[in-house]
Amino acid sequence: MSTMKRTHYCGEIKESIIGNNVRINGWIDDFRDKGGVIFFTVRDRSGIVQILVLPEEQPALAEKARELGSEYVVTITGVVHKRESPNPNIPTGYVEIVAEEIILLNKSELPIFHIHDEANVNEELRLKYRFLDLRRPSLQKNFMIRNKLYQITHKYFSDNGFIEFETPVLTKSTPEGARDYLVPSRIHKGKFYALPQSPQLYKQILMVSGFDRYMQITKCFRDEDLRADRQPEFTQIDVEMSFVEQDDILELAENFTAQVWKDIKNVQVNLPLQRMTWFDAMTKYGSDKPDLRYSMEITTITDIVKNSEFVVFKEAVNLKNGSIALVNAKNCASFSRKQIDDLTEYAKKYGAKGLAWIKINADGIQSPIAKFLSETEMQTILEHSNAETGDLLLIAAAEFERCYTILGALRIEVARITGILEKVKNDFSFNWVIDFPLLEYSEEESRWVARHHPFTSPKKEDVESLKTDPQFARAIAHDLVINGYEVAGGSIRIHQNSVQQTIFNLLGFTPEDAQIKFGFLLDALQFGAPPHGGIAFGLDRLAMLLAGTDNIRDVVAFPKTSSGLSLMDGAPTPVDSKQLSELGIALAESTKNND
Ligand code: AMO
Ligand code: AMP
Repeated sequence: MSTMKRTHYCGEIKESIIGNNVRINGWIDDFRDKGGVIFFTVRDRSGIVQILVLPEEQPALAEKARELGSEYVVTITGVVHKRESPNPNIPTGYVEIVAEEIILLNKSELPIFHIHDEANVNEELRLKYRFLDLRRPSLQKNFMIRNKLYQITHKYFSDNGFIEFETPVLTKSTPEGARDYLVPSRIHKGKFYALPQSPQLYKQILMVSGFDRYMQITKCFRDEDLRADRQPEFTQIDVEMSFVEQDDILELAENFTAQVWKDIKNVQVNLPLQRMTWFDAMTKYGSDKPDLRYSMEITTITDIVKNSEFVVFKEAVNLKNGSIALVNAKNCASFSRKQIDDLTEYAKKYGAKGLAWIKINADGIQSPIAKFLSETEMQTILEHSNAETGDLLLIAAAEFERCYTILGALRIEVARITGILEKVKNDFSFNWVIDFPLLEYSEEESRWVARHHPFTSPKKEDVESLKTDPQFARAIAHDLVINGYEVAGGSIRIHQNSVQQTIFNLLGFTPEDAQIKFGFLLDALQFGAPPHGGIAFGLDRLAMLLAGTDNIRDVVAFPKTSSGLSLMDGAPTPVDSKQLSELGIALAESTKNND
């Protein structure tokens, strides 16, 4: 038998096996030589266990133990004993292994940082030495959760009749709306593959091919601005179904979500989940992914103040789709001038020109805009926003989406400042957002663009108005939101070529453009495409929520930094001029020698 073959993982050494002879493998976590006794702990992926060596009884073993250092790799054989001074803080704290044999398998350089969760190490260093970082118990726990998520996913979808596929990574550019990562072709110089932003078109084609239920856990690639919940390559649980309506997709997806929360968090999710229209989400919470763990709803006051003397409100009312609304920051009337200035600066990041406010003090109203409002206007505002003594109302006036987005951001910021977020940090809220606008106008491109993607079906009752009022057309689209994160998105697709052509027209594609870009899908739609739709979950975001972190990098083994760098291996790196010339690529002068 191998001299390394373990009998137990470290974390399994418990009171129930006292007296047993055991063998463990792992890394030296902590070492204390007290002369008369030597203690050290050994760590593996399951936890740590204490080892005891008694120099008087085993001088040779003690000598060997004294050669050990932090992160050395060892095999220890010994007998499990009850510990004289237990440590109730660790699961193996009531026992220890009295060593009989120590095999040193490998030494280690002095680690760059302590492999402890408490160690306060800057993230760049952690990412550079990710192999050490990943030894930390909290990260190991995250990847156990992520592993469980894969298992539940495969089982759930397989049990529900889904067929697992792999779709290409070298593809034709797909239309999710981000920039593509391109891969040059050596054989076809001057031509490029695109890494898929999602397998959207392939999964639709598999529906046309009759597979009925498709799923894939797959990497997607998007060259977009990175944030705490965004990676340039991320993982989707991608799903598509034929002969379904939106209700069928939502039901399947929420059952899956409930299964995941039950198995991993032991949390019972009440089904069916709340469904909220995009319009309600925006006007009540200022976001298309509202965090419903706390309420703090927005109050619209456009009608109340539309005739007021305040020039800012007048201007807003005159805007196409102008809105005036507020959030009631409960008990925040005590905010200082500086705190309100900070909130104003914060609002400006979301496009606010300013931030009007009303304090309801015990001795009366205080507000820079009070002088512009009539007594009735002020009273109506207070009533509608349920304002009480001690409250602070924060008011924004701007174009509809901007106005509510500003207030949505302030709602979260006030929740953070006042400790509401901290209070709800262990809660979960789940909800659907549906009835998204189908299109949005891109000022940059001076044309309509699809909000989700151009294959999303408009609601039947809105198809006619598409030609006259495209801005009001709603999509049969759905996003699943957990704690204010968009964890999944999908839609019912267009399966009729004629509707698809109408949408392409609206988006400004000529039939020729459309044929060049998505010809293969358009062709497929002409050969008996069944009604179909689907959804894709962001697996990393699910893992993030399940692991209780707000940093996606904590659940991605080898993540990129916010500027797209992989600090451990150094990607992206320059390549040989030979490689470039084989690809027929010459670098622009200005990009040479760039790090
Ligand atoms: P969508 O673009 O909404 O839909 O993506 C689906 C889900 O993927 C996650 N996600 C991301 N996670 C981490 N980093 C990113 N950069 C990132 N971008 C997206 C989100 C999101 O909800 N083909 C459609 C799905 C469909 O229509 O069926 C699609 O990709 O959690
Ligand atoms: P002013 O008269 O321009 O000093 O503005 C009076 C108050 O209105 C100040 O508190 C400004 O921050 C605020 N304000 C200015 N523009 C806006 C706006 N677009 N929405 C809400 N408040 C604003």
